[in-house]
Amino acid sequence: MGEIVRLQKYIAMSGVASRRAAETMIQEGRVKVNGKKITEQGVKIEIGADNVSVDDKPIKLKNKKYYIMLNKPVGYVSTAKDQFDRPTVVDLIKEDLGDVRIFPVGRLDYETEGLLLLTNDGDFTYKVTHPKFHTDKTYIATIKGGITISGINKLRNGVYIDDFKTSPAEAEILDAVDGHTYIKITIHEGKNRQVRKMFAAIGCTVVGLQRIKIGNVELGNLPLGRWRHLTSHEVNYLMNS
Ligand code: URA
Repeated sequence: MGEIVRLQKYIAMSGVASRRAAETMIQEGRVKVNGKKITEQGVKIEIGADNVSVDDKPIKLKNKKYYIMLNKPVGYVSTAKDQFDRPTVVDLIKEDLGDVRIFPVGRLDYETEGLLLLTNDGDFTYKVTHPKFHTDKTYIATIKGGITISGINKLRNGVYIDDFKTSPAEAEILDAVDGHTYIKITIHEGKNRQVRKMFAAIGCTVVGLQRIKIGNVELGNLPLGRWRHLTSHEVNYLMNS
């Protein structure tokens, strides 16, 4: 079932007129719902199911698409609503977007931070997440202790996780400080907890994980917990790559 809204709100959402002006249009008998003239205020309609016309011209929601990049902090779930009422990534954005419903494009674990995309465009989500489009994802993993060259080479050749052999990853050691090693890793699939499982497969424990890049779209210096709209260039790149 579609969302139920007041007729004047629907007309305003479609961009035909403001809510006030829509009320006047209703009063003047210019608005029909499913072919029937409506002159009283307060009538509700179901979006997607009821046909609304003004001056006998059918109107439709403009369906503006939103493409957002969030720097997700640890401690947020990558869903629109959580069954345990934990904070969600959508909570970090929705105050600013009002009625628009957006959803995460794929997931980051509760304890992973970094680049997460959100949109209300299902085609975009499909393009970025479907394995057949091979959108690369780059992470910085912090692991406990060190890593051997043989371990790095295993990641580069592909490792088995849950009976699945990962395709060759790009992996390089960035730094080793205070008993931790920082590794930049680019993977080509998006299996559940893939990076953690890949390190587990070579005997390493991930203690911190940050996604920094999807395709060639980079997190850059967006502060933790903040979001921005993608540029049209970034949207086109992800749609067409
Ligand atoms: N791989 C993981 O293990 N976790 C994530 O959140 C993303 C990729």
